[in-house]
Amino acid sequence: MNSSKKKSILTDKRLFSLVQLNEKISLESFHCQIDEYNNYLFNEAIRSQKDQMALTWLLRERSSEIIVAYMSLISDAIKLSATEKELHQLDYHFKTIPAMKIAKLAVSTAFQQKYKGIGTLMIEMAIQIAESCNEQHFACRFITVDADIEHNETVFNFYEKNGFIPNEEIKGKNRKTISMRRDILFRA
Ligand SMILES: CC(C)(COP(=O)(O)OP(=O)(O)OC[C@H]1O[C@@H](n2cnc3c(N)ncnc32)[C@H](O)[C@@H]1OP(=O)(O)O)[C@@H](O)C(=O)NCCC(=O)NCCS
Repeated sequence: MNSSKKKSILTDKRLFSLVQLNEKISLESFHCQIDEYNNYLFNEAIRSQKDQMALTWLLRERSSEIIVAYMSLISDAIKLSATEKELHQLDYHFKTIPAMKIAKLAVSTAFQQKYKGIGTLMIEMAIQIAESCNEQHFACRFITVDADIEHNETVFNFYEKNGFIPNEEIKGKNRKTISMRRDILFRA
């Protein structure tokens, strides 16, 4: 489908609801173009959740309850250089800064072809979760991601468009992923 013909979901978020993964929810309808991400959802996500290793959130279409996208969230802490701390106005001597990582994110191919902006909506929802932690439970300054360029060569651009910047320590290294961060308090 031509991307200009895709409907933007950012104009009507009521089409979808976010629910936490549980064993009663049927996952079969989900399919994205990367097998590793399908296999994780079908075979690993429940176990990871029980072991408190990763908590998975499902975006479902309200009318059909079909799974549109999922993300797995974990706590994180990142090291920033003096220059990076200055950029984020973090005048602290701590070596690590509190963060929350999007450990997995995938959008169903069928819905990706139908709507524009589902991946972006998932990031917005991850930020809302981090903000509610800040209000009620614990501090979290950054959302982080290891952009999986091994499976999706250009995915770096998707995160960059969503306000993520690469961490200094990884620049220039030949990796399968690029560690990126987004400041949820100030836009660096
Ligand atoms: C990456 C992914 C989550 C993006 O979801 P999406 O719903 O297509 O993203 P959006 O519609 O919100 O896109 C926002 C912008 O990023 C761009 N974008 C999305 N995916 C991109 C990609 N792989 N490469 C380059 N740009 C991309 C879009 O064109 C759009 O740009 P625009 O605003 O200038 O039009 C989705 O493609 C996916 O699930 N891929 C398979 C799994 C995967 O790679 N997950 C990430 C692992 S770190």
